[in-house]
Formats: sequence, C-alpha cells, structure tokens
Amino acid sequence: MSEPRKILVTSALPYANGSIHLGHMLEYIQTDMWVRFQKHRGNQCIYVCADDAHGSAIMLRAEKEGITPEQLIANVQAEHSADFADFLVDFDNFHSTHAEENRELSSQIYLKLRDAGHIATRSITQYFDPEKKMFLADRFIKGTCPKCGTEDQYGDNCEKCGATYAPTDLKDPKSAISGATPVLKDSQHFFFKLPDFQQMLQTWTRSGTLQDAVANKIAEWLDAGLQQWDISRDAPYFGFEIPDEPGKYFYVWLDAPIGYMASFKNLCNRTPELDFDAFWGKDSTAELYHFIGKDIVNFHALFWPAMLEGAGYRKPTGINVHGYLTVNGQKMSKSRGTFIKARTYLDHLSPEYLRYYYAAKLGRGVDDLDLNLEDFVQKVNSDLVGKVVNIASRCAGFINKGNAGVMVDTNAAPELTDAFLAAAPSIADAYEARDFARAMREIMGLADRANAWIADKAPWSLNKQEGKQDEVQAICATGVNLFRQLVIFLKPVLPLLAADAEAFLNVAPLTWNDHATLLSNHQLNEFKPLMTRIDPVKVQAMTDASKEDLTASQTDTGEAAPAGNGELAKDPLSPEIEFDTFAAVDLRVALIVKAEHVEGTDKLLRLTLDIGDETRNVFSGIKSAYPDPSKLDGRLTMMIANLKPRKMKFGISEGMVMAAGPGGEEIYLLSPDSGAKPGQRIK
Ligand code: 2FM
Ligand code: ZN
Repeated sequence: MSEPRKILVTSALPYANGSIHLGHMLEYIQTDMWVRFQKHRGNQCIYVCADDAHGSAIMLRAEKEGITPEQLIANVQAEHSADFADFLVDFDNFHSTHAEENRELSSQIYLKLRDAGHIATRSITQYFDPEKKMFLADRFIKGTCPKCGTEDQYGDNCEKCGATYAPTDLKDPKSAISGATPVLKDSQHFFFKLPDFQQMLQTWTRSGTLQDAVANKIAEWLDAGLQQWDISRDAPYFGFEIPDEPGKYFYVWLDAPIGYMASFKNLCNRTPELDFDAFWGKDSTAELYHFIGKDIVNFHALFWPAMLEGAGYRKPTGINVHGYLTVNGQKMSKSRGTFIKARTYLDHLSPEYLRYYYAAKLGRGVDDLDLNLEDFVQKVNSDLVGKVVNIASRCAGFINKGNAGVMVDTNAAPELTDAFLAAAPSIADAYEARDFARAMREIMGLADRANAWIADKAPWSLNKQEGKQDEVQAICATGVNLFRQLVIFLKPVLPLLAADAEAFLNVAPLTWNDHATLLSNHQLNEFKPLMTRIDPVKVQAMTDASKEDLTASQTDTGEAAPAGNGELAKDPLSPEIEFDTFAAVDLRVALIVKAEHVEGTDKLLRLTLDIGDETRNVFSGIKSAYPDPSKLDGRLTMMIANLKPRKMKFGISEGMVMAAGPGGEEIYLLSPDSGAKPGQRIK
C-alpha cells in the first residue's frame, strides 16, 4: 500500500455581500466531490474556504443597509455556511478573510515582498467623489460611452457597443454612489512588481499546473509582458491597513488568496496534529490545489504564485479551472427565473439531484456547463431512481420475506462482480482527473448491466415456482452486492444516499477499498425507499420562486453566472461555442445602397442595406476608416441580420455589418467574393 497523500484543497472565496447561487454551487460541488473521493481513498485531504469579506462593495452595501461591515459579513457568513452544509459541501474549515490570521499573514507576506524589493510606489490620478470623499473604482463611475454615445455606461466598458476605455474617456461622468461629478485627484499607490517573476511564471505555468487551454491563455499574457499590479486602495476602504502606511489599505484581491492560508492556519490553531509549515513551507511535500472559475485565472495563475514565491512559500500543485454555468442554454436570468439561489433550490429539491447532474456533465475542461432543467429531471430519474436505487428495491423484499433479511453466501454472477471489480481503477482514474462525467458514465454502464442481469433472471417469476427459492435468494443477494458496489463508487457524489444505503446494508461507513469485498451470510436492515423521482412540478415551483426573489433593486442584466464569482462577467478564455449557437446567427450578404454621415457623431456611419427581401438601417462605427462614405455605395459586405434591433440616439440600428481590424483607419469591412447576391445566407 502506498503512503496516504497529504492534500490541501480550496474553492474560490465567495464575496460576503451576496447569496450563493447555482453558478457558484457548481464549483463547490465539483471541489467537494473531488475532496470526498480523496478521503474515500484514504488520503489526508483538507478542504478550506472562507468568505471574501473586504472591498468597497461590501463597505457600501453595509452602509446602505445601515449596519457595520462586520455585521454584514457575519450575517452573510451564517447564510453561506447553511447553504454549503445543506448542499453537503463539507469544508474542514469555512473562515473569513476579515480575521486576525489573515491580517497577520497578509502583513507578513507584504513585508517580505517589500523587503525583497518587489514593491514599488508611485502617484496615480483617479476619479474622486467629492461628496463621498472617496476614490472611485471604474464600476462606480457612470457616463456616456465615448464610442457609441449610449448613456449610463460603466467606467470601463460599454454594454451596448462593447467598447473598452478608461473612465476618463467617458463623457459626462458621474459617481454611481452619490451622483456627484467626480474630480481627478492624485494619490500614492503601492504596486507589486509582477515582472520580477516573469521567468518563474513562464516555467511554472508550463509545468503541468494548468489545463492546456488555461496555460495557452496565460502564455499570451506572458508574451505580451506583465505589468506591475496595483495592490493599494485609499481610505475609506474596508480591509487591512498596509503596515507603515496609514490611510492605505490592501486591495481586496491581495488578501483574498492569502485567505486560503489564513483559513488553514485557523484550522491548525485548533487541530494539534496539523502543521501549517508542512503544507505551506517552501519544502512542503503536500499537494495544494485551488479550484476556481475561468474569470479569475490571472489572480491565481500569475499574481498568487508570484506572491508566494516572493514571500518564500511553496506554490500550488495545480489550479483547476472550470467554466461558467448556463441554465437552459442561456446565461442565468432573473426574469426567466433561472437565476436560482442555493436556498431557493433547497426549498424545493434534494441537493443530491443537482450533485449528480453536475457530476454527470462535468469534464476536466473549461467548457461551460448547461443545466437544462428538462434534461435534469429526466437524467436524475432515469439514472439514480431507475437504475441504481431500483436494483436494491427489486431485491430487498425477497431477502426480507424469504430469508429474514439475511443475504446468502452464493455469488450467482461471478462474471458480473468481477467486471465491477475490474472497472474500479478506471473509475478512480476518472475521479482523480476530475472527469466526473466519465466516472458517472462508467458507473451507469455497470448499473445497466446489473439491471439487465436481474431482469433476465427475473426473481419475481422464479419466486412463484416451487423449489426455486434458493436461486431467488442467490440472485437477490448478488443484486444487493452489485448495488453496494455502485454505492461505493458513487459515494463522493451522493453522500446521503450512501449513508442511507449503509443503514440498509447494516455496514460501517463504506470506503473505496470495500469494493473489493462482497457481503455474504449478512443480515440486512429494513429497506426504505432511498430516493424519490423528481416531480417536474417542483422544478417549476423553483423557477417561479426565483422570479419572486427579484427585488426592486435588482435589475435583469441577464448577467453571466461565473461560478465562484459575482463580479466579472467577461469570458477571458474565448470559449468554444456550440454549433447551434453559431447556426443561430443569420449571416447574410448585404448590398450597401447608401452610406452617409450622421449628424452629431464623429464615429458612426448610417448604412442603408439591401438584404434581398428587405432594406435595413444600420449604424456602424467605421467612420474613422471610411471618411468619405459615398465610396461605400454599391459595395457588398456581410451582415448579421438577426441581431436584436438597438435603439440609439440617432435611430434604430437593425443589425450589424462585419469588419475586422484594430480600429482607427485600420477597419476593414468584410466582402463576399464577386458573384454573391444580396440576401444570400452563409450555409
Ligand atoms: O471572484 C470572486 O468571487 C472572489 N471573491 C474570489 C476570491 S478567490 C481567492 F483568491 F480568494
Ligand atoms: Zn458604446
């Protein structure tokens, strides 16, 4: 037997200013299943997490609620802890970044970086709210998009035209907090000199620590050259003050990952046999994995290992990145009732249904995962109730009635029990590789074989025949043994089902290695139904309740649900799209009948387009490349014809023409080959 591995695992720390939803839950369930698998195998695996409690968003939310930030984070921590516990996410510790251990570690790491010369200071100019007397992060500034003129856009990008810009480019900027017009003001900031770690990161990110897609994306950032990272914020700010720098605070993202260490430290402080340095020291032989969503890869695969290296700690063994959650093929939406909070789900459905569904769909890649609610009902009912639980319920009654609940010692299907045994290494490999979907496929393949065998043997018919009772008992004992094997394989995903099955089987908690043995001459307990089918009415009730969850302050942005993150909705990894998504785009050849200037804008042209059966009016931001629009008259281009019409200051834009290039004079309109006719579609 090999030595048990020592493993420390984390999930991203949820912000302490909002509820956990099913997008977050994807990550916690994924991590929990992996951790439970490791424990099941006999490894020492410790799973820590915490609330991410700092930052201006939390400070402002508390102010709005008329409570202190400390009260807010205590309330949220209680809510989060209950949600996780009820989803069977079994942390060894759930702490907070606003804790003494974190203050000490953050200060110590910063001082080590500073003393090693990895901290720079310089003055930067930023918008300042003169009423609230605070500097404004980009998302707290609103104004008119400098590119397309849409009002009420945030300080760093336009939701309408997708342009990105500096907050100082916004026209008519206003503080989103007080409504005041912000003024520009200088202040001294502290920077972590990330470029000092370029070489180390180049090697570390290619050393098997990242999935290929993630490593490739990081390589692009590394090739482009790393920038210094601004790690300070000015008062007022809810966080830790920087040592020796009164009025300056650590930016929330500096002390958030240190929160992983702090949560572990807090656990060590009350667990004598745990040694902090054995897990975090430079020479640690323990494994360290962070499970995160793809929106926070830069923090975990660049800044974090560089901080650890610079401060003399070990670096992670792996960063395990997953994609976002969609529901019914679309971003979670409050108006559709698919922005489902963890608690709303739990009010209607069992946590294990979702755990199984996520497992059945989670591969090891960074693809998004779709929770299709119809498929969810169908898959859970067919696999868990129809296949797994069915084996036990088919066999238990005969053993109970025919043999006082005692399993006989005959193995009626040695070839099948051998096949189950032989499948174990491959199932274990799939779990280890976080390919839960493959593990579930293989387990359900075994369940199919067990059911087919029992159906073929038909103990219910044999039982009616004279002299066949021994055979019935042998078949049913074998069936229960096969069920027990399946439960062992499924236990990391379905811990409650496993506990109920253990009660029925009358056995001590099952571990992975138990799959190699069979029960014989064994007394069972009474069989109680282990799982009921999902009633689609409950799913409907859950989505209805999610619509009711809408409060007046929440707008339906149709926002993405980055699992493990509530703030960034952009996808930095340009994920692959399904063919269906591509096929939904109506791409057409368009004839530019007329191109003209638009009064009041120096960016847009108005295009009148002939697309065969109709004429469209489209505003396009291509004027910088086509200052004389009449040159476009009569030219063919390509357009997206089924883009939702957009109301703009100058009229309604009914589609979008396609162009490529970096901008300015370098914008190139796409053209089809000669011979194409207006209205023809891409096939
Ligand atoms: O994106 C988020 O939701 C952050 N609160 C995650 C922090 S993870 C870690 F670095 F602390
Ligand atoms: Zn815009």
